[in-house]
Amino acid sequence: NQEVLVDSYGRRVTSLRISITNRCNLNCIYCHHEGNSSSKKEMSVDDISKIVHTASCYGVNKIKFSGGEPLVRDDFEQILQSLPPLKEISATTNGVLLKDRAHELKAAGLDRINISLDTLDPECYQFITGGKQGTLEQVIEGIKASVDAGLTPVKLNVILLKGINDTKIDEMIEFIRSFDGNVILQLIELMDFEFEVYHQYRVDIQAIENELESRADEIRVRSMHRRKKYIIDSAEIELVRPIDNTQFCANCNRLRVTADGKLKPCLLVDNNLVDVSEASSEKMDELLKLAVSRRVPYYR
Ligand code: GTP
Ligand code: 5AD
Repeated sequence: NQEVLVDSYGRRVTSLRISITNRCNLNCIYCHHEGNSSSKKEMSVDDISKIVHTASCYGVNKIKFSGGEPLVRDDFEQILQSLPPLKEISATTNGVLLKDRAHELKAAGLDRINISLDTLDPECYQFITGGKQGTLEQVIEGIKASVDAGLTPVKLNVILLKGINDTKIDEMIEFIRSFDGNVILQLIELMDFEFEVYHQYRVDIQAIENELESRADEIRVRSMHRRKKYIIDSAEIELVRPIDNTQFCANCNRLRVTADGKLKPCLLVDNNLVDVSEASSEKMDELLKLAVSRRVPYYR
């Protein structure tokens, strides 16, 4: 099958971002819940495998698993093992449960991992993550275990928060440097999902971009979302600037799948989902194309 998935804006879909659960062991103050509903239903290993097999016939070659927190599912390794050969399989996790599973995840087929960590201060970590279900120490152990297991490059996802970490970027750069090039710092613009939090903690992202630009030895641009990567004294720093950014959306190549089995054309749009939870393999082809046809760049 040489057929590919292209939406009506000429954007080819080459990746799926699959949420495998809405459950999470943390309760971060800013969380966008991947734009999902609070449904308790979760796709089975077979459901997930079927979607990925169909999509891979249309040239989808990258899969990102997310949650909630994907590691709260005990069968995540089985999900990974059920997939067809792909160019890249990655996951985004809060890292709390990672230490004891990093090697198993790698053996099951996971290529690399993104770990959310917004601060290196234990008290501040508790504040951001909203409770006592995870500790900073567990996450740091998770990062070390991931590097050790070869889930590299590990990306450290840092949501920029005014007064919390916007003046601590250098500390974060020093932290990733200690992993000898195996960890990339991904600085992320806070998105407006929790109104109060957004207004209290949003930063001047342009000022941060300007500073990175002035300090960088080299700047690269990723095809996905046209995101910029800055190399500063051999540390790699990526800036994710989704808000009000036509370049971000015009170069989006992903389709989302919600934990309860619906194709979701965009993180920021909730009224155009395509339910594939009961679909046969034949029907899946059709529904996949339907969801792709519903993709509209949010910022344009
Ligand atoms: P890699 O960097 O290749 O690992 O993928 P990724 O950027 O998708 O992974 P990650 O889970 O680290 O997401 C980074 C940030 O991008 C998140 O904080 C999201 O808020 C933002 N983001 C992800 N997907 C979308 C999207 O579809 N639309 C918008 N506007 N923002 C998104
Ligand atoms: N704005 C930006 N990024 C967010 N994430 C969660 N909520 C938000 C938000 N409001 C990030 C997490 C994680 C990724 C899955 O999405 O930090 O890294």
